[in-house]
Amino acid sequence: MQYRTFGRLGWPVSEIGYGMWGMGGWTESDDTESRQSLQLAVDDGCTFFDTAWGYGAGHSEGLLGELVRANPDKRLYTATKMPPKNFKWPSKRGFTLDETFPPDHIREYTEKSLANLGLGRVDLMQFHVWEDAWARDERWQRAVDDLKREGLIGAIGISINRWEPWNALESLRTGQIDAVQVIYNIFDQAPEDELFPLCQELNIGVIARVPFDEGSLTGRLTKDTRWPEGDWRNSYFVPENLAASVERADALKPLVPAGMTLPELALRFILNHPAVSTIIPGMRRPTHVQANLGTSDGARLPADVMQQLRAHRWDREPTEWSQ
Ligand SMILES: NC(=O)c1ccc[n+]([C@@H]2O[C@H](COP(=O)([O-])OP(=O)(O)OC[C@H]3O[C@@H](n4cnc5c(N)ncnc54)[C@H](OP(=O)(O)O)[C@@H]3O)[C@@H](O)[C@H]2O)c1
Repeated sequence: MQYRTFGRLGWPVSEIGYGMWGMGGWTESDDTESRQSLQLAVDDGCTFFDTAWGYGAGHSEGLLGELVRANPDKRLYTATKMPPKNFKWPSKRGFTLDETFPPDHIREYTEKSLANLGLGRVDLMQFHVWEDAWARDERWQRAVDDLKREGLIGAIGISINRWEPWNALESLRTGQIDAVQVIYNIFDQAPEDELFPLCQELNIGVIARVPFDEGSLTGRLTKDTRWPEGDWRNSYFVPENLAASVERADALKPLVPAGMTLPELALRFILNHPAVSTIIPGMRRPTHVQANLGTSDGARLPADVMQQLRAHRWDREPTEWSQ
């Protein structure tokens, strides 16, 4: 495992981190298998774990707390997120701070997350949605300062809404934000335009999320793929999105170098960008942990492959189903 410095926080984080949404409530999650997968990741050098109150109303946070307590000799970096008060994902233009993150809500959900984690402090607390219009509102800034001073959180980050990498730039310029989490993968290359250069200039940690585009970049979806009732992916991969995503993923398959898989190519594409501190693939199975952590071997994709992948950029606009 290779490590990168997490922006100005200076944390040495594994460049492959761990996304813990799926195990919080996607269908076919199995806690025993999730626990095995998490421990395997720790044993193989993973040090960064991303969860949220919203992942099963604290269920995923509970699994992370257990993992930290089971590994007292390891420095594991914990990241969670507070839900917006109106519980609406994503936020929309016009939502106010009062509707989403008033100071009492920031404190209440920090305390709830700490209780779920069973820890006295979380390294990184993140806003689970964001509007850049709130950047200069001092109320969230003071609430966050208080939590830091009291030692309840180590740092604060923004998880940027899907396909809106521009929607936090002003907030980063306030100097109050330590880290951002953003969708970045072979399709979603837009963070390279403005967000990554600004993060590099301000030395802000970058968490690259959704490296497999929620599954299409694993190459395993077909136009007929459906999930059990209640799985959120049925509402994301609506027919129009599923068909387009599968076609685009299929178009990548001829580019996968010999001996490599499409998921490996997807992670290596992200690892190529120096602004990225850590990538957080969603993993619930030991085989996926082994495969994904194995890509952090210091080897880089050949320049010609990177060049070809650039042409697969897919700029999308948030829609009713994109969440
Ligand atoms: N708004 C936000 O802040 C937000 C939104 C989305 C995600 N996130 C964070 O980002 C993390 C990653 O996103 P995600 O989990 O939604 O999507 P993702 O990482 O793009 O894809 C996860 C899917 O890929 C599968 N997978 C993982 N490794 C694989 C491999 N080597 N081969 C084949 N399939 C593989 C997983 O399988 P299994 O189904 O078997 O696990 C899962 O179905 C989340 O867990 C969460 O921590 C944050």
